[in-house]
Parts: sequence; C-alpha cells; structure tokens
Amino acid sequence: MGKDLTAEERETLRKMLPNLPEPKDDEFVHIPPTMDDLEASKMHPKLKETIRRGYDLFMNTQQLRGKNVFNNMNCVSCHMGEGRRPFAGQIWPAAVFLPNYRPKNDHVNTLEERIAGCFSYSMNGKPPEYGSDDMVALAAYHQWQAKGVPMYPGVKVYGRGYPKLKDPKQKPDFARGKDLYMKNCAACHGEDGAGLVQNGKVQFPALWGDNSFNWGAGAARIFTMAAFIKYNMPLGQAPSLTDQEAWDIGQFVSSQERPQDPRYTGDVKETRAKYEETFHKHSLYGTEVNGKLLGDHSNTGGKDFLKPDVLRPRDFSGKAAQ
Ligand code: HEC
Ligand code: HEC
Repeated sequence: MGKDLTAEERETLRKMLPNLPEPKDDEFVHIPPTMDDLEASKMHPKLKETIRRGYDLFMNTQQLRGKNVFNNMNCVSCHMGEGRRPFAGQIWPAAVFLPNYRPKNDHVNTLEERIAGCFSYSMNGKPPEYGSDDMVALAAYHQWQAKGVPMYPGVKVYGRGYPKLKDPKQKPDFARGKDLYMKNCAACHGEDGAGLVQNGKVQFPALWGDNSFNWGAGAARIFTMAAFIKYNMPLGQAPSLTDQEAWDIGQFVSSQERPQDPRYTGDVKETRAKYEETFHKHSLYGTEVNGKLLGDHSNTGGKDFLKPDVLRPRDFSGKAAQ
C-alpha cells in the first residue's frame, strides 16, 4: 500500500516517472521486476528464455508485421517503459485481475484474450493463436511482471491503465487542440499524424491514418487519449500540459480517420449504436466532425480482413454442450 512504501521504493518510483502523482496511502503499489532481475534470478533457464521472448515481442512487436500486426505499433508504443510504468498502461494488473467480466465483449476474459484484444484493435491485427509459442511467451512476460502480487487482490491500483482526468472546465475544442498539436506533437508524429518510419524502424508511431490503431481500440476514446497524453507526452517532458490542453489535443486526435472498427456491421451509425453504451459514447466514431461522418468507410488499413476469428462470443452456461 502507498502508506507502507520504503524511502528506497519511493525513490525507484520517482525515477520511473519523474513529476507524476505520488501514490496515495490506500493505493496498491507494485514495482514490477526488471530484465536484470530476471537474469539474476534462479528461475529455470527455459522459463527465462520464454519470458525474454515475451519481452522481445512486447518491445519489438513489428517482428510480427504482416502476420499479427498491420500498423506501426509496438506494444510498448502505448505501454511505455517496458509495460512497467504506472500511468502508462502497466500490464501486470491484467495477470491478477483476470479472468474477469469485460463489458466491451460482454463475457469473461482471460489474460490471453486481453492480449488478443490489443492485437485486434490497438495493433489493427490478428492475435497469435491461443496457446501458440508467441502467445505463451507474451502471457509469461505479463505474469512475471506481477511477481509477488496475490491473485484477485481486491485493491485500488496506483496509476492503473491511463487514469481518467477530471472533467475539463471548457468543452474540449478541435481548433485549440489542433493548434496545441502543431506546437507540441507534430515535430515527432507529423502534421499528418502518420509518425515516422526510418530504415524499417518505427521512430514515432502513427496517431491516426492507416498505420495507427483502429476505431475499436481503447485509445480511440477521447478520455483515454487525453489521459495518455497528459501523463506521457510530449515524450520526455510529461506531465507538462494542463488537463485542459490534454483534453483539447485528445479531441483533435480523436477527430481523425483511422482503420475501421473490426466489429463494423457495414453501417457506421448502426455499429455506433450497437456499441454506444459499452464503448462508442466515448469516441467520435459515427458522428459528424467538420462536416464529415467519421468511420463511414470500409478501409481496414494495412490488413485485408475486417475481423479476426478470435473476436467471438463465448458461452459458459454449459447450454451449448447439451
Ligand atoms: C494504441 C495503444 C496501444 C497499443 C499499441 C497496445 N495497447 Fe494494450 N492497452 C491500451 C489501452 C488504451 C488499454 C486500456 C487501459 C485502460 O483501461 O485504461 C490497454 C490495456 C491493455 C492490457 C490490460 C491492462 C490492465 O490494466 O488490465 C493489457 C494486458 C494490454 N493492453 C496488453 C497489450 C499488448 C500485449 C500489446 C501489444 C500486442 C498492447 N497492449 C498494445 C492501448 C494499447
Ligand atoms: C520527441 C518526440 C515526441 C513528441 C514531441 C511527442 N511524442 Fe508521442 N510518442 C513518441 C514516441 C517515441 C512514442 C512511442 C513510445 C515508445 O515506443 O516508447 C510516442 C507515443 C505516442 C502515442 C501512443 C502511440 C500512438 O501512436 O498512438 C500517442 C497517442 C502520442 N505519442 C501522442 C502524442 C501527442 C498528442 C504529443 C503532443 C502533446 C506527442 N505524442 C509528442 C514521441 C513523441
């Protein structure tokens, strides 16, 4: 718990995230192990090898380009600092809070299914098969990150995901956001949001367009984008923007086109309505911005399919077997 942290642990946290909010007394803080800890540990060499492979896939997911990944993202593009950093989508909570019910797909999800979710939406791709070598390696990296945390801890986690900012004082504004984006972000991510790839290596990931996450990704929600920006961008300077500025830039980025939501029914208004309550009420998908209906297209970006097979309903009632 926040109140039990030693001076040394507080220092480690500060190094991980200079200037970010300190843990509150009643928040659960976990400092995940590092790759140096892995090498120094007495775990079986085969297990170390598996976790190392998971880490490598997490950091350089582009090695699965064209097979599982169809945009310019690596997992670490959004889960910054090796997936270890609070306020930057740390990954260990998924290993201890799952299996659990997820409103997004209305059934109980495992850790592998959660990872598959980010492949399907954030990477605009097709997840590695459940139980495949790559999936097992990635899951092992997540589970090892949770080393020492009890299952279903029933606590509030410090900096889980991208903690939602307080509601903005002024309505988030496209024009103000655009202005701020050009000043603070365009140098790296480009005026067209396409980012930068050099010699086949992604230097700066795409914020919108064909090489970015699709309309079904968590980051397509304005509040998630605003929080991500506030706590993580501009790279190396955050938190330097005010909450209002982060909301405004979030509004601007969320107003741009991106690959179709894999759950698309063929009609953007219908798709929005279907997933409005659990998702799209937080996005601008299927709404009109500057005279254009967002998401009204069948462009799937770099891939030639809409929906990977693993995105399917599940049934644990036992009825299907009878
Ligand atoms: C475009 C940004 C983006 C990329 C790229 C991305 N994710 Fe995510 N991920 C998110 C968002 C947003 C969430 C939801 C966080 C929240 O609920 O606040 C999330 C959540 C998760 C969670 C659940 C964390 C928790 O607290 O339970 C896991 C696990 C995860 N992602 C794994 C991955 C893996 C593995 C990859 C690479 C294959 C990946 N993600 C790529 C944006 C991304
Ligand atoms: C100095 C260069 C730099 C600046 C300036 C910068 N970024 Fe980034 N941004 C990055 C890099 C690099 C990553 C990927 C992080 C990683 O791989 O560790 C990233 C990741 C992101 C992501 C998640 C991945 C994606 O493509 O969706 C978003 C969103 C983002 N930046 C938005 C912004 C916004 C908004 C601003 C301006 C407020 C900004 N960035 C300023 C370099 C920069």
